[in-house]
Amino acid sequence: DRGTCGACTVMMGGKVVYSCTVLAVDAQGKDIQTLEGFAPTDPMVQAFVNNDAQQCGYCTPGFVMASKGFLAKHPKPTLEDVKEGLGGNLCRCGTYMGIRKAVLEAANRSGGRNG
Ligand code: FES
Repeated sequence: DRGTCGACTVMMGGKVVYSCTVLAVDAQGKDIQTLEGFAPTDPMVQAFVNNDAQQCGYCTPGFVMASKGFLAKHPKPTLEDVKEGLGGNLCRCGTYMGIRKAVLEAANRSGGRNG
C-alpha cells in the first residue's frame, strides 16, 4: 500500500496506476485492465516470453502493464527511454535487461503504433 515496487500496476481509465494506492471507492465504475485480460498472443506478452524477461514472475504483471502504458505514450522509445519510463517498477530478480529488450521488441513489432 505504499507504491514502492509497481508489481500491482494496472490500467484504470486508460491510465497506469499502482492498484495498492487506489481506494476501492475511487475504482468504482472505472474501466480496469490487468494482465489477465491479455491474450497469450498479445505482442507485449510474446515479447516478454521471447526475451526471457522474468525469473520468479512476481513483478511481471506490473511490468507488462507499465510497459503497455509506456509504449502508448512513447511508441518509438530508445533503451534509455525504457529505463527511465519503467523506473517505477522494481524486479528483485534483476531481469531488467530482458524486460527492456522486450519493450523495445514490442515497440518494433507494432511499428511504433502502440496503445
Ligand atoms: Fe522476480 Fe522480477 S522476475 S521479481
